[in-house]
Amino acid sequence: MGTLLEVRRVSRFFGGLAALAEVSLSVGEGEVVGLIGPNGAGKTTALSIISGFLRPSAGSVRYCDREIAGLPAWQITRLGVARTFQATTVFAGATVFDNLARAALVRASYPLFGQLVGSHASRAVEKTVRAKVEALAEEFALSCWLSRPAGSLSYGHQKRLGVALALATEPQLLLLDEPVAGLNPQECTEFATLLKRLQQNRSLSLLLVEHHIQFVTGLCQRVVALDHGRKIADAPPAELVSNPAVVEAYLGSEDDDFA
Ligand SMILES: Nc1ncnc2c1ncn2[C@@H]1O[C@H](COP(=O)(O)OP(=O)(O)OP(=O)(O)O)[C@@H](O)[C@H]1O
Ligand SMILES: [Mg+2]
Repeated sequence: MGTLLEVRRVSRFFGGLAALAEVSLSVGEGEVVGLIGPNGAGKTTALSIISGFLRPSAGSVRYCDREIAGLPAWQITRLGVARTFQATTVFAGATVFDNLARAALVRASYPLFGQLVGSHASRAVEKTVRAKVEALAEEFALSCWLSRPAGSLSYGHQKRLGVALALATEPQLLLLDEPVAGLNPQECTEFATLLKRLQQNRSLSLLLVEHHIQFVTGLCQRVVALDHGRKIADAPPAELVSNPAVVEAYLGSEDDDFA
């Protein structure tokens, strides 16, 4: 298994606060890696740096053997890294179809946008995008919602749409920020099945941030734990639950979901 993502000694400061302090982690091709830690540990900051929404203060982020730290987010998306957000961030007023089409356009080489609207070439792109949106909607059981405003979907459906949007950009590495937060146990199980299927069918690599520990240990081959911006563990799930540093980090916080 080759290395797809290699984060090396990345730090990020906000004023005097080190949200991340010299964190290193890697994700292999086809690997599913969990990223856990109490509130404020730096998990979202790490995803934001990898996906280009934040610049690191120091350190390196290599993807497919290329330095990507500091590149703009759209460029990193085009290289094959997509992320979902902790809060759902669909365009609430736009339809599910338009949300998906906008994401799918990242991969479409639109002919001289504006000049050739209505041309043969642009109609071909529209056809490809439409087919892709319909296939994704089918895969995510969202077909019957395509013409509805995304904001009118239930919270669970919006979470699913968030993953579909990320996949529309055709990533090789998918970063998920708390995909099952706020979902009921049945929705969590469905989400786990969905992610397993995606990972197998598309040979996706996943970096998964989640507080729901059973969800993480059930899906991940390896789990990285952060606390106060520092990496405190990097181990297979079975070893993690008995790791004293991890237990201490969770007991010492108000996070009570590490059971
Ligand atoms: N834009 C920002 N400006 C200032 N401080 C920030 C910013 N973003 C994050 N922080 C701080 O950095 C630390 C890490 O935040 P981060 O959001 O990465 O934590 P997290 O592990 O994702 O937590 P949670 O589990 O609550 O989502 C926190 O102390 C947070 O307050
Ligand atoms: Mg977070």
